[in-house]
Amino acid sequence: MIFEQIKVGYDNFAYLIADEKSGYAALIDPSFEPQKILTKAEKGNFEIKYLINTHSHHDHTNGNAYILKNTRAVLLGFNKKPPAANIEDNEKLELGELNLTFIHTPGHTPDSICILTENKIVSGDTLFVGTIGKTGFGNDARLMFQSIQKKILPLKNSIEVYPGHDYGPFISSTIGNEKKNNPFLKVNSFDLFLKLKKQRSKK
Ligand SMILES: [Fe+2]
Repeated sequence: MIFEQIKVGYDNFAYLIADEKSGYAALIDPSFEPQKILTKAEKGNFEIKYLINTHSHHDHTNGNAYILKNTRAVLLGFNKKPPAANIEDNEKLELGELNLTFIHTPGHTPDSICILTENKIVSGDTLFVGTIGKTGFGNDARLMFQSIQKKILPLKNSIEVYPGHDYGPFISSTIGNEKKNNPFLKVNSFDLFLKLKKQRSKK
């Protein structure tokens, strides 16, 4: 598997995932510099099959039009409307010999997903190194707490975490490290989670 984390704009991360055997590739969140990620794919001679958004925020999606204009990629995401393809929670996608699994993790946005492939998870704005994506303090916070409890914490400790922004002390992490060091993964009740969010928002 080819897996490249590409820093774009100020602190966004785009990703290129490719299967060397078939030459098929997927681009995730092209963000502010779609040509940069396209050039990487072209250098590897990859055929870009899919363009995937971890969620619908503009800083992640604004390179979509450029990628779609310059490739034959199909746009995929949660709650997408045609001509983009809609994906469901736990849906799997073949990329040559690779398998991508989409995990719906609402909270930061209702359409947030994480993308799991082999021992790597692209976590969008759900999970950052040392922290989590922004939410308010209402139902969106509750959804985020549930996504962490039900979708993130059950993942194997060895899985590497690749976030949507360079917000932490490192550019990537592992689920095991996040369980140890990320305070939002250490609280086990929604009340404590909310309390922590409120403390952090005052800083
Ligand atoms: Fe976002």
